[in-house]
Amino acid sequence: MLVERPKSAENIGPIKIYYPQRIIKLGSKSPTLSALNFPKESLDHILKDFSIIIPIKNEDIRLFDSAIRSIPSDCHIIVVSNSNKEKCEKEMRLIEDFHDMTGDPIIFAHQRDPSIGSALEDIGYTSILDNGLVRDGKGEGLIIGLLITKCLKRKYVGFVDADNYMPTSIYEYVLDFAIGIAMSQTPYSMVRLLWKYKPKAVGDKLHLEKWGRVSRITNKYLNLLLSSLFGYETSIIMTGNAGEHAMTMELAERLSYASGYSFEPYQLIHMLESADDLDLKEDVEIFQIETLSPHMHENKGEEHIKDMILTSLSTIYHSRLSNKKLQEKIIKELKEKNILKDDKPPKNTIISPIKDINAKGFINSVKRESDIFMELR
Ligand code: GDP
Ligand code: CO
Repeated sequence: MLVERPKSAENIGPIKIYYPQRIIKLGSKSPTLSALNFPKESLDHILKDFSIIIPIKNEDIRLFDSAIRSIPSDCHIIVVSNSNKEKCEKEMRLIEDFHDMTGDPIIFAHQRDPSIGSALEDIGYTSILDNGLVRDGKGEGLIIGLLITKCLKRKYVGFVDADNYMPTSIYEYVLDFAIGIAMSQTPYSMVRLLWKYKPKAVGDKLHLEKWGRVSRITNKYLNLLLSSLFGYETSIIMTGNAGEHAMTMELAERLSYASGYSFEPYQLIHMLESADDLDLKEDVEIFQIETLSPHMHENKGEEHIKDMILTSLSTIYHSRLSNKKLQEKIIKELKEKNILKDDKPPKNTIISPIKDINAKGFINSVKRESDIFMELR
């Protein structure tokens, strides 16, 4: 694969954020003046250390089926579901068939499984719980996936959504994750994907749009925040809501997380705010990679978009790096879009790092108690 060489980066304390780098070509022979070359074989040793987490809540089972079949075989797949009973049963059957057909290792967990809730209660990891159960929310599901990855002792973790209408593009996404890891010089790296296009149906035509409605706004305010910190204007952040992203576990274990859909934007805010408290021995590198494949996923409707904008902007509004002027702009944006009910956005719930958790003990307890947790190897 050919990927544009890193052009430039911004440093904020120990955090280095690179400007986006495009995937130039999937197959390739040698590097060029403008591009680095990563043949698939050179990425295999990285893929062997990857776990890929797929969060799923009541998605079309056919899309999910193709999604898990599009993940490179070396990766360990972890599906974390929050689906209703009927869909959950279908997902479990499908995973068994997948394992029978491919022999690939795969784990299935349901985030509302009472045995997961009680195992976390027992070890005192309660910031993710509500009444003894893991809360609803995408972020919460991803953290269950992180705990499983920790137990598997995989070095890298990547996240891909289940509602992808072009599921084979997931194969590229995972290779893009590995390229980011291969470029990185530190144990603490993150790779966030942005899309070449997001095709949208307009009448009877598909428009090749570049930005989603949420990411356009989240990126704008993240960049305003950075511009105010730097004292000059920047538009470096193009992956504020990147659902498809990856990290080294060395970094992932140290971070705190925000619930639901604020998971991704909060990662950036949190690292900028708290880099000095993360016990880092080297710098953090954040790569933003523009995929060659377009991205097309389920349209979840107006309320979903509004909720994502609200929770994303609230991570910026409540950041201690924010300032009065920026907060006023956020309020104005939310009011204009009819999203704000109170006088300010609600604070996101923050979930503690998983670094000091005995993940093996947690999983063993879930395996003993649960009748839905599945580990197929
Ligand atoms: P968007 O793509 O960011 O607009 O948001 P989606 O609603 O498509 O969610 C992204 C992925 O997370 C999809 O695969 C969803 O099925 C999944 N998801 C959404 N909410 C939850 C949840 O509460 N728990 C879990 N485990 N997955 C969720
Ligand atoms: Co989606």
